[in-house]
Amino acid sequence: MAAEQIVSSTMASLSGAAGTCRLLPSSSSYSPRRTKVSVSTSSSLTHSSLRSSSFYSPLPSLVIHNQKHQRRSLNHVANSGTIVITPTCFASDPDQLKSAKGDIRELLKTTFCHPILIRLGWHDAGTYDKNIEEWPQRGGANGSLRFEIELKHAANAGLVNALKLLQPIKDKYPGVTYADLFQLASATAVEEAGGPTIPMKYGRVDVSVPEQCPEEGKLPDAGPPSPADHLRNVFYRMGLSDKEIVALSGAHTLGRSRPERSGWGKPETKYTKDGPGAPGGQSWTAQWLKFDNSYFKDIKERRDEDLLVLPTDAVLFDDPSFKVYAEKYATDQDEFFKDYAEAHAKLSNLGAKFDPPEGFSIDDGSTNPTPEKFVASKYSSGKRELSDAMKQKIRAEYEAVGGSPDKPLQSNYFLNIMIVIAVLALLTSLIGN
Ligand code: HEM
Repeated sequence: MAAEQIVSSTMASLSGAAGTCRLLPSSSSYSPRRTKVSVSTSSSLTHSSLRSSSFYSPLPSLVIHNQKHQRRSLNHVANSGTIVITPTCFASDPDQLKSAKGDIRELLKTTFCHPILIRLGWHDAGTYDKNIEEWPQRGGANGSLRFEIELKHAANAGLVNALKLLQPIKDKYPGVTYADLFQLASATAVEEAGGPTIPMKYGRVDVSVPEQCPEEGKLPDAGPPSPADHLRNVFYRMGLSDKEIVALSGAHTLGRSRPERSGWGKPETKYTKDGPGAPGGQSWTAQWLKFDNSYFKDIKERRDEDLLVLPTDAVLFDDPSFKVYAEKYATDQDEFFKDYAEAHAKLSNLGAKFDPPEGFSIDDGSTNPTPEKFVASKYSSGKRELSDAMKQKIRAEYEAVGGSPDKPLQSNYFLNIMIVIAVLALLTSLIGN
């Protein structure tokens, strides 16, 4: 079926259900195969992206995706041939999201791009303004950062590289929105670097045209005249608290600053000259691909000239309210992980419009279980609780010889005594002879 037919037939049938179901994947300024699709309809659609008389959409993935979405979400075709729609289709396909997560894991293993993916997710979400009600004018996690006009904002220098890394995954899974993909990539990067599991939800709707991008200047500067006031102005506008400012700043435990991008940091240090990934830049921590609380320890001590401390990092230990949290996170990694995971999830939802409205989770626990975290104390001293697998193994070994760990092998005991008696009897008779 031609794309125009799919579009017009779906649109015509949607006049009663407009707004409940995303009809089309949003446009891509990076898609290698773009086709202009004309929309000719008299239906009264309310979705702003479809009000215009034409839009761009990647093909042929668009056609396949829409056919799949229709099958998944349309309950039945009535006798008249009219498609009856129930509001059950989501902005992103949960199965495709799960598969995309696997692909992101592979990408991370080969390119070590954890930090830049986290920054991409943060910069898409961090434009949110809680004082604006309308979507997408309020900014936030809506995939607008894929458009060139926003990527060219000074604060986003270098993030085009993150988009280039993710675009093949987006092409492979057209049923995943950019807004979800950016947040999925960021949360996966934190987890894969050893950080906490983020309680994520999905279903974010994408903006569809560059005109819906936020204006420049919504993200924080690293060296403003009054860093504490500046951080509060920016993060309070997003509805975030002092605790969340400090916890989220802890993401700088990963990654590097590059003078040619942000203007901050050294061109290279002993920690970055060999990569991994493209060498260079200045990191906040020595192990800048490991998510832990060393950021707080290192910016507090400031002992190593090769480690970066931005003015907005330093203020976390200068401002009395920020300091309470920074000190706590420097000594207690569990507290940092707990607060970071909550704050990251909140950040990832800012400004997002979810379809379904409550969002959905993709963590059913059945696929790719998170490997058990390394906890040093477990391997040092003290009694260790046996794992369930080990208990099962021991039980099986006992049972194979007729006993059980709860009930020691009495039958074998008896057998042993009989053998000893027999040997003694043999020895006695030998000696007697
Ligand atoms: C508190 C205000 C913040 C300021 C002023 C700030 C500033 C910066 C700057 C200047 C860079 C260097 C960029 C470059 O040269 O490529 C950077 C990198 C980074 N930022 Fe932030 N940031 C802030 C908050 C955050 C938050 C909230 C997150 C995530 C939750 C985050 C995650 C990152 C990461 C992971 C990198 C490393 C990127 C890479 O290695 O490519 N930042 N940030």
